Amino acid sequence: MRRNIVAGNWKMNKNFAEADDLINSIEETLRQYDTTDVDIIVCPPFPFLELVSDVSEDANFFVGAQNVAKFDNGAYTGEISASMLKSMAVDYCIVGHSERRKYFFETNQDVAQKIDLLLKEDITPIMCVGESLEERESNKHFEVIRKQVEEGIFHLRAEDMQRCIIAYEPVWAIGTGKTATKEQAQEIHAFIRQLIREKYNDDVAQEVSILYGGSCNPKNASELFSMEDVDGGLIGGASLKAKDFIEIACSF
Ligand code: 13P
Repeated sequence: MRRNIVAGNWKMNKNFAEADDLINSIEETLRQYDTTDVDIIVCPPFPFLELVSDVSEDANFFVGAQNVAKFDNGAYTGEISASMLKSMAVDYCIVGHSERRKYFFETNQDVAQKIDLLLKEDITPIMCVGESLEERESNKHFEVIRKQVEEGIFHLRAEDMQRCIIAYEPVWAIGTGKTATKEQAQEIHAFIRQLIREKYNDDVAQEVSILYGGSCNPKNASELFSMEDVDGGLIGGASLKAKDFIEIACSF
């Protein structure tokens, strides 16, 4: 059965000392809350993975990466492989974030390759999809999301598909303070779940958690998470403040 999940994407923020402060403050804050109904994932930049995974050993959260190479190990200067992540106790990895699609020209085919490499290492992919403002305004959002889902993840067999997480992040809502309404989120989440149902079956569709991302904060999280097909959130800005992040995680 799909789980409630809240994942924090720190993006390219914090230096080592600040990351140390933040993760310790998350660990302390977590002790004051009951988070048994939610899986919490922290996705720091690569250089801070070890720091975060050390703290996670005695705390109630998992560690995720923000990206992975689309190749196995070898001569790919500057890249980080799925097997490296596995060896750092990383259990989750974001793929296909809109910022990677926009600034690093990541395609649906790249996303598909990365998902395969992650699953081979038993790391759970968090695949991001979402439309731009222009695509929504020209009523292309369903088509865009269908293509991202079909090309990025529908090559998987059912047993692998149900190990994955999908995050719906409308590009116009990321970092803008302009959150999707709960109805807009529900509509797309239900659409994604229906695509999974049609491609696989209802059992698989019920196993895949679908997260919402885009200006999610402690004030709007509970109404978003109250929607039938919204299983949690992928949090950017608000995940950089321990209290806000944990309050969001406790919004189910
Ligand atoms: P914000 O929460 O800052 O809008 O970012 C969302 C996001 O991109 C998470 O991956």
